[in-house]
Amino acid sequence: MNESASIDTIDPHAELRRALSSRPRTIPPRWLYDDRGSELFDEITRLPEYYPTEAEREILSANSAMIAELTGATTVVELGSGTSDKTRTLLDAFVAHGEIQRFAPLDVSEATLLYAAEVLNQRYPDLVVEPVVGDFTRHLAKLSSIGDPGSRLIAFLGGTIGNFYLEERKAFLGALSDVLAAGDWVMIGIDLVKPIERLIAAYDDSAGVTGAFIRNALVAINREMGGDIDVGNFEYVAMWDSREERIDMRLRASEPERATLAALDLEVDLEAGEELRVEISTKFREERLREELTDGGFVDHEFFTDEAGDFALVLARRA
Ligand code: SAH
Ligand code: AVI
Repeated sequence: MNESASIDTIDPHAELRRALSSRPRTIPPRWLYDDRGSELFDEITRLPEYYPTEAEREILSANSAMIAELTGATTVVELGSGTSDKTRTLLDAFVAHGEIQRFAPLDVSEATLLYAAEVLNQRYPDLVVEPVVGDFTRHLAKLSSIGDPGSRLIAFLGGTIGNFYLEERKAFLGALSDVLAAGDWVMIGIDLVKPIERLIAAYDDSAGVTGAFIRNALVAINREMGGDIDVGNFEYVAMWDSREERIDMRLRASEPERATLAALDLEVDLEAGEELRVEISTKFREERLREELTDGGFVDHEFFTDEAGDFALVLARRA
């Protein structure tokens, strides 16, 4: 989610070349969600240390009926939907309420999306399930042709908004606001600031699944770009950036690394200790998101949290 160019102009080769050649070196997070990466993320959601999934499920269980009643949405769109596992709690309530006609999950991972659509089709035979393969940083315009303007709820769950850098987050909220109509609703999951020990445990779990998820980006690059990066030479490092209030996930070369990416005709030379920046996960305070939502043209913000106060769902209306 590091780029702001349109998908039509984006060249994954040029993007990766630029990212690996920049200082500090980065890896575009899109490399995290190949089929194996999606499986590993699913495993992360079941780790005992990774609290966001269950916290958000608790909030959805407690509030979905009220959200269905309040919004009366006839279309629910889910951005970065993954398996849409938790979303079933929300959809159950919308179906029980009786007004929903359509559910449109949008994700870059086609395999995950198609699997999710199959499960949903079986569970909700009367609902139109309309999966959309797309990139939520570039394809929000697709939303303009989905559902009835003014009667839609756009869900962005899991805390994925925290994986954007600040400027990307602002651009995303602005683009979402632009494509929606007055009266449409958004519902966004945010992870909240909390003691560092719990955050580090959630992003550097004892079973090493998060490390495998982040390292898998190198496996995907080797596969797609004809690379010979020695994945085992990279140590996973998760740090808390207290100024930006975000977890910073990096890969650090243990020994000097010289790798070739044949498809890019690129040699990458790393010194021992040099890091590749792969992903951030921002943690929020309510006021911060309120301001950003207001700037993006969203009103009537309402926050719901789990009992432990770990996670929040914010519901807001496009003015
Ligand atoms: N919403 C689910 C999944 C979160 S994981 C949950 O709450 O558990 C993040 C999801 O976003 C993955 O399914 C990944 O494939 C998807 N994703 C990541 N970057 C994306 C992008 N730029 N556009 C669309 N989907 C993206
Ligand atoms: C998808 N997203 C909300 C996850 C998070 O918690 O930031 C991605 C993740 N990366 C490592 N663990 C989980």
